[in-house]
Amino acid sequence: SRDELYVDAAYDMIVVSNRLPVDYLRGPDGETTWKSSPGGLVTALEPVMRAADGAWVGWAGVADREFDPFEYDGINIIPVPLSESELEEYYEGFSNDTLWPLYHDVIAPPSFHREWWDAYVRVNRRFAEAAARAASPGAVVWVQDYQLQLVPRMLREKRPDLVIGFFNHIPFPAYGIYSQLPWRRQVLDGLLGADVIGFQRAADAGNFTRAVRRLFGYATRGSVLDVPGPDGEVRHVVARQFPISIDSAGFEELARRPDVQARAHEIRESLGNPQTIMLGVDRLDYTKGIRHRLKAFGELLRDGRLSVEDVTLVQVASPSRERVETYRQLRDEIELMVGRLNGDYSTLGHQAIAYLHHGYPREEMVALYLAADVMLVTALRDGMNLVAKEFVACSFDDDGVLVLSEFTGASDELRQAILVNPHDIEGLKDAMVEAAQMPRKERARRMRALRKRVRENDVAKWSSTFLKTLTGAGIIASGVPDG
Ligand code: G6P
Repeated sequence: SRDELYVDAAYDMIVVSNRLPVDYLRGPDGETTWKSSPGGLVTALEPVMRAADGAWVGWAGVADREFDPFEYDGINIIPVPLSESELEEYYEGFSNDTLWPLYHDVIAPPSFHREWWDAYVRVNRRFAEAAARAASPGAVVWVQDYQLQLVPRMLREKRPDLVIGFFNHIPFPAYGIYSQLPWRRQVLDGLLGADVIGFQRAADAGNFTRAVRRLFGYATRGSVLDVPGPDGEVRHVVARQFPISIDSAGFEELARRPDVQARAHEIRESLGNPQTIMLGVDRLDYTKGIRHRLKAFGELLRDGRLSVEDVTLVQVASPSRERVETYRQLRDEIELMVGRLNGDYSTLGHQAIAYLHHGYPREEMVALYLAADVMLVTALRDGMNLVAKEFVACSFDDDGVLVLSEFTGASDELRQAILVNPHDIEGLKDAMVEAAQMPRKERARRMRALRKRVRENDVAKWSSTFLKTLTGAGIIASGVPDG
């Protein structure tokens, strides 16, 4: 009965994402800890959740473990379990070896397996059920990212009283690519269960809307889609861009801290105080263009346009999805390149590339941003790229140069960066030299404009804009005439 549905209902605001903001980690001696998990999504939503006293539904990062709900650092956590085979088929398989490469313009070839799809449906249903149980009557539920695209529809069917939002953190591809997906109709239908579907860029929202028109023939007016319900009534679903951001003030505050600045100084010292430190910070992912960056850097050293006496490249590559074959191959290729380049160009006193296969706490990242003169973001495709925004937010002295790929969502906003096409290695090389040699005045002019943009468009603004649109749309969806 309906009453039973609400037995453990509690929360007015629920975020649902594949990964919880904390991962359960087992150390070498069997000891366990909860640790903040990687990725842009958590960075973006943590401050929102702390403020809302809502609940966060997600997976704890380990297979075959069940956990009771708990509180972590002021956030209510509701863990959803995954079995080992679901981890392989739903997470590593369908999410990260089908959807991830497909949605990133098939930079790597996506694999299509029917068993993976079955697991994706099953796990999405489990997340939807957990959210349905935790939601109070009329609650707002905000579903995140490509791993959970079926959840909006499943939730609506169980709980038509809820206001349901979805945000896609990665790109949404053009129809010619999207249409490869054997389950293209089911995925769109899953998403259309939401009241508001958010994307990073206007281009992503446009690709989605066109796919809906092509596959379902629904009428669309700008960002409003007419979606017929089971009884023939029409729901208005909003699909548009909400570019995500960071806690800009929080990053600047860290950057201004004397101990963080001292650490930045120490980093420069330990690299031998080179004239120019170039920095790359990425999850070790084939979408990030790390190979293109290394190739360009290597050629600049080879051609003598840069010298290891003057320039060091620091590349942080945080471990990611390490059991997926494409990621293993990528790691081997990158480490081979780094080894070769260091072998060819390093001297006893000067290292060409400092390569770090680790994740670091935020303080250390900020110290690295402060230590760097040139930030290299050369992604081949990236929903947003928060690293670019973090670097800008930390550059409170209006110094530092951002080299930014035009294939990132961030490049829609950060127009005063040096914009590059990372496939064009000659162009990338020119941009890197230009960045290293840019006069102080020009650096300041650009960075001032970039910082203004990032300060005024922070993650609080992102979430409040999304949630305002969502609660407005909820009123329309539940039957109040909209004029
Ligand atoms: C990207 C995705 C997130 C994901 C993160 C880390 O930012 O948009 O959904 O959580 O990468 O990847 P992982 O597979 O470790 O969760």
